[in-house]
Amino acid sequence: MKTEEEKILFDSLGDMKRTHNCSELTAKDIGKEVVLMGWVQRRRDHGGVIFVDLRDREGITQVVFNPKFNKETHEKAHVIRNEFVLAARGTVEPRPDGMVNPKMKTGEIDVMASELWIFNMSRTPPFVIEDNTQVSESLSLQYRYLDMRRPGLQTNLMLRHKAAAAIRSYLNNLGFIDIETPFLTRSTPEGARDYLVPSRVNPGQFYALPQSPQIFKQLLMLAGFEKYYQIVRCFRDEDLRADRQPEFTQLDMEMSFVTEEDVMAVTEEMLVAVFREVLGVELEHPFKRLTYDEATGRFGLDKPDLRFALELTDVSDIVGTSEFNAFADVVKAGGLVKALNAKGCIGFSRKEIDDLTALVAIYKAKGLAWIKVRPDAWQSPIAKFFSDSEKESLRQRLDMEPDDLVFFVADQPKVVNEALGQLRSHLAEKLKLIKEDTYDFVWVTQFPLVEYDEEGKRYIAMHHPFTAPLEEDLSRLSQDPLTVRSRAYDLVLNGIEIGGGSIRNHQRTVQERVFEALNIDRDTYEKKFGFLLEALDFGAPPHGGIALGFDRLVMLMAKQTSIRDVIAFPKTQKAACLLTEAPCEASATQLEDLSLRVRPTKK
Ligand code: AMO
Ligand code: AMP
Repeated sequence: MKTEEEKILFDSLGDMKRTHNCSELTAKDIGKEVVLMGWVQRRRDHGGVIFVDLRDREGITQVVFNPKFNKETHEKAHVIRNEFVLAARGTVEPRPDGMVNPKMKTGEIDVMASELWIFNMSRTPPFVIEDNTQVSESLSLQYRYLDMRRPGLQTNLMLRHKAAAAIRSYLNNLGFIDIETPFLTRSTPEGARDYLVPSRVNPGQFYALPQSPQIFKQLLMLAGFEKYYQIVRCFRDEDLRADRQPEFTQLDMEMSFVTEEDVMAVTEEMLVAVFREVLGVELEHPFKRLTYDEATGRFGLDKPDLRFALELTDVSDIVGTSEFNAFADVVKAGGLVKALNAKGCIGFSRKEIDDLTALVAIYKAKGLAWIKVRPDAWQSPIAKFFSDSEKESLRQRLDMEPDDLVFFVADQPKVVNEALGQLRSHLAEKLKLIKEDTYDFVWVTQFPLVEYDEEGKRYIAMHHPFTAPLEEDLSRLSQDPLTVRSRAYDLVLNGIEIGGGSIRNHQRTVQERVFEALNIDRDTYEKKFGFLLEALDFGAPPHGGIALGFDRLVMLMAKQTSIRDVIAFPKTQKAACLLTEAPCEASATQLEDLSLRVRPTKK
């Protein structure tokens, strides 16, 4: 029995069933009686006939309420507004001549309504529910459930689902086992800040949410599972960007008795299968490969975008003995001078060059020298310092032709590569050199095992401390750790790091030597990772794996520029959820239970 209110406001669903979705009716269905259910995308009243674009997740069908066809139903349809939820029963009819819409899947037909059920009304939404509407990010995130009614986001999230399903089915067939690992755990060493969770039953103690399941998946190899995967949430308290969220999803994998070649092969073949199945795209493979030294040397970055050329060229040998002290001094001090030839860019204004100088300054470059190649002479603040033979060598090495603009940075290799690498990416975008619609994969291998952290004044693991050193470099581990290469690999797609992994240390002695190279003393590593070291004593098999950033992968598959567009409920730059208003203060009782006191903070 309906209550009085329900009778007035809403029809009930009862046992009524929809017969079709809103994208499937075509001319071949003409004459059928159908029931459609969905939301009102648009309602128009044309001379007494009401047209409703009814939307469900599959698409849109036009439903027509005509008083000549059914007077009572037409009368009822007057109250309909955008985003009302309804069902209509009616007959599929051909659209009148000239009204066929070839752009719409259901554009050949109308459903002439004989019956209407209104399940719910809707307030006027705070923005129009359509792709390409101008909505502020804060409003769209606050009303994310309305935002997600847009076809664009619906498509992205369905694509995400298909990708996950294709991955699972591929890995299941290869004998991978999906095993869940804890969220309430100890700090995991991926290099970001932890999210901590206070323990009520252990006052003053905290769990850390995992930055990745790294240690657990290694323990699963020790336990003998041989092939593991998990599509799993990871938590990192770090500064957010378009491709970073505080909680994000990894496709995490680990295998026993494998080398880097095996891990890369499985990953690559899986991606080929997933792109084929989900997008119908045949990826070029085997994927390209660069060592870390090649990648940073030629393209400046360890995640090179190979969709365009614009390579960096080392000119240290030519300018190192020149009269230009800024270059000569750097080379004498063991640094580098590298150049980038922006072909045909002689027209760049002073202001444009100043802006590029400001860009490289972000990456610590002390300047950006440049030469404009005029047909008769070089225009440049530094050309006067070079001899004719130095100029000739530069011209040849850099293929300098009239109309070119060549940039130089001199500094320590790290600064030179990073500054010019970023300049390279920036110029590619500015000059529209990037081939769209390509999926350019490259493996970057042999990363350095450690890097020097200027802030902390110590060595830190470039990947994580469980990564194995290349055996041939092992002897330099304690004396010269910066020259030790690791068995780590990253996968880069269109200049974005979509995954990383390594072969791990499965022998306790090697693992301890790596900790020591990282200046982690025995007490500390025993305390933090003693359980892992102990486990290595009980027959640890050789093993290795990889984690793909699933959000980033789907973002690129969906041709989006932010991972927020492929996450149902993403967080803002300030790590907030505008919909639920998390994070928020805890109540006095909760704090009491957790033995916590909060220091007053300035709002
Ligand atoms: P890594 O730290 O490189 O490796 O992470 C793997 C991949 O996860 C993605 N990623 C992120 N995506 C969105 N938001 C973030 N904040 C974020 N941080 C990382 C990247 C990255 O390549 N345990 C190791 C893997 C291993 O060694 O097997 C790990 O987590 O695409
Ligand atoms: P200066 O002699 O300092 O006036 O510099 C002349 C030009 O060289 C300017 O365009 C500077 O930006 C550039 N320059 C100075 N130092 C460097 C450097 N380390 N690397 C690249 N360019 C530099």
